[in-house]
Amino acid sequence: MPALHWPGKQLNFPPAASLHLESVIAQGGEAPPTPNRLIWADNLPLMVHLLAEYEGKIDLIYADPPFFTDRTYAARIGHGEDSRRPQTWKLAEGYADEWKDLDEYLDFLYPRLVLMYRLLAPHGTLYLHLDWHANAYARVLLDEIFGSERFLNEIIWVYHGPSAIRRAFKRKHDTILVYVKGEKYTFNADAVRQPYHPSTYKTFASSPKAGFGKVPDLKRGKVPEDWWYFPVVARLHRERSGYPTQKPQALLERILLASSNAGDLVADFFCGSGTTAVAAARLGRRFLVADASWRAVHVTRMRLLREGTAFTLERQDSFSAPVRPLPAEWLSITDGQLHLRAPFLVDFWEVDDQWDGEIFRSRHQALRSRIQEQAPLSLPLTGNGSLCVRAVSRTGECYEFTGRADSPRPVPF
Ligand SMILES: C[S@@+](CC[C@H](N)C(=O)[O-])C[C@H]1O[C@@H](n2cnc3c(N)ncnc32)[C@H](O)[C@@H]1O
Repeated sequence: MPALHWPGKQLNFPPAASLHLESVIAQGGEAPPTPNRLIWADNLPLMVHLLAEYEGKIDLIYADPPFFTDRTYAARIGHGEDSRRPQTWKLAEGYADEWKDLDEYLDFLYPRLVLMYRLLAPHGTLYLHLDWHANAYARVLLDEIFGSERFLNEIIWVYHGPSAIRRAFKRKHDTILVYVKGEKYTFNADAVRQPYHPSTYKTFASSPKAGFGKVPDLKRGKVPEDWWYFPVVARLHRERSGYPTQKPQALLERILLASSNAGDLVADFFCGSGTTAVAAARLGRRFLVADASWRAVHVTRMRLLREGTAFTLERQDSFSAPVRPLPAEWLSITDGQLHLRAPFLVDFWEVDDQWDGEIFRSRHQALRSRIQEQAPLSLPLTGNGSLCVRAVSRTGECYEFTGRADSPRPVPF
């Protein structure tokens, strides 16, 4: 079997990451134990860490890594992250897809693919999303790791959009390589059926013999081909998060419906804006998602809160955002409500009003919607008087207050 070689190819795994529980998030009350995890970490030491608990246990992995494009991608922050009104948003750090050379990129990809293989359940499926820059190399690597007989599909996701290319055809498709771990794998054909093309209906209406004896079940619909059209998120403003290279919700929903069942565990170790986690939450799957970028994790947290999903937020020990003290003067209490008045626009803030001094259980949250300039500035207070308040400014600075909820102003410990 031919295999891909490059100088220095080897499988080196770093020591396992150690994780720190940042918060348990549930809307409006008790935070239940939750099977859903959002983790801010480098996915290589993270996956090494996860082996102990999840080896052979994850039902579906979607991976959308940097594509080897030699570019950096900025995030848009601000209200209405809408490409038509640039005056309403600013640019912030997103993520880098820059490499010394292809070897360095393959050194990055290879051990991560091997770890994903190990984490997958025997009936599990991996979807690896790339484009023309690296998909040919990845295909050979996946043949090596999974075995070429475990190749299931090469999905072509086609879309429209502007392009500066004038001396070649516009490059308007991505490639999603699909591999299964074993012979028995989940594939729910009925869950993803689509209506037949209108011309097929017409043909069979005019002559039932049109299919040379094969009559399609027009009512049931067809299993989609391996090329999919979904508009890019730029045109779907409602789901646009401002995080770069966000994938359409509909794309992830089709993947989850086809290759997982309700209650299954779905992972995405390059989660970006959290599209996989949102799809999992909507379709009743459990999720385990991670990203190395703080902004990605923040955007994912906001999107998940809009879904009303409970989850834990963890971070790798060596990752920490600087947290500034939130002065008591910014907070006030009236009629069982806590109010925040900060000298900046607030993206997100949350309260643990039964704070035990150890684990932050986020019981009430206020977040900016896509069309708001800032988050609502009042939250209910229902707890026992011990308070921890966390806030994130629109530009991403983090603040924290700890104290007692004494009216009219909280008192710091
Ligand atoms: C193509 S984007 C993912 C977009 C995502 N599918 C979405 O719909 O928003 C790739 C992501 O991989 C993340 N990433 C790159 N290297 C990583 C690493 N070593 N560990 C974890 N995440 C990483 C980047 O921060 C970026 O958010």
